[in-house]
Amino acid sequence: MRMRKKKHGDERRALLSHLMIAADQLKPGTAKQFFAQPNRPLYLEIGCGKGDFVIGMAQRHPEWNFLAIERVPDVILCAMEKCDAAFLHEIPENVRFCIANATLLTEYFTCGEVDGIFLNFSDPWPKAGHEKRRLTYASFLSQYRTIMSPGKTVIFKTDNRGLFDYSLESFAANGWKMTDITYDLHNSIYNEDNIQTEYERNFSAKGFPINRVVAHVPTDIQADSADTTD
Ligand SMILES: C[S@@+](CC[C@H](N)C(=O)[O-])C[C@H]1O[C@@H](n2cnc3c(N)ncnc32)[C@H](O)[C@@H]1O
Repeated sequence: MRMRKKKHGDERRALLSHLMIAADQLKPGTAKQFFAQPNRPLYLEIGCGKGDFVIGMAQRHPEWNFLAIERVPDVILCAMEKCDAAFLHEIPENVRFCIANATLLTEYFTCGEVDGIFLNFSDPWPKAGHEKRRLTYASFLSQYRTIMSPGKTVIFKTDNRGLFDYSLESFAANGWKMTDITYDLHNSIYNEDNIQTEYERNFSAKGFPINRVVAHVPTDIQADSADTTD
């Protein structure tokens, strides 16, 4: 996401440091401790942008914890300032933000630590040479599979049909089952619970249909083969 440099960004982030988890403090097995109720399920949004989705989810689901990951500091500042306003300057119990790159997820989370991942309007990286940067490329799916248990889900929304078709193929090629696929989320039965993101509102207003899929972490290969030897 392109954004003009924020004035006094460091100072403004420091004022909201109670909403942040520093990436260098996020070690495997520690994430839940940063929340008031560590035993609640932990959901990640990767590439949270300006934060509307994660803030909406945190308000709707106080029984879950949400960690929003975003690699651009000025973008996450915008999300944190919105969050602070949305929770009326009280410290929310169940939402935190981290400036981090999703390429390093397995350095931050241990096996099965995460209960679900949301990918919303991820950068499409349309050039073939940039395929490895797509958040549904095999190496990312492998990390999601490590930090979530079998059956947990990645829920992916995008207006970009090319990225969506690519992602369906990538999930399938890597053994993920998919459900609840729609090529027009806003006119589907899945729209009732939908919380829109900033990009979603923008693209939808321009007439682009929104695609969405729920992809399920495959059963572990070792567990599969163990089953057959019983
Ligand atoms: C197109 S924007 C969408 C923002 C928001 N999810 C929405 O729907 O409005 C994609 C966001 O993902 C972030 N992003 C892209 N790749 C990332 C990565 N590897 N790790 C963390 N954030 C990433 C970008 O900085 C950008 O803010």
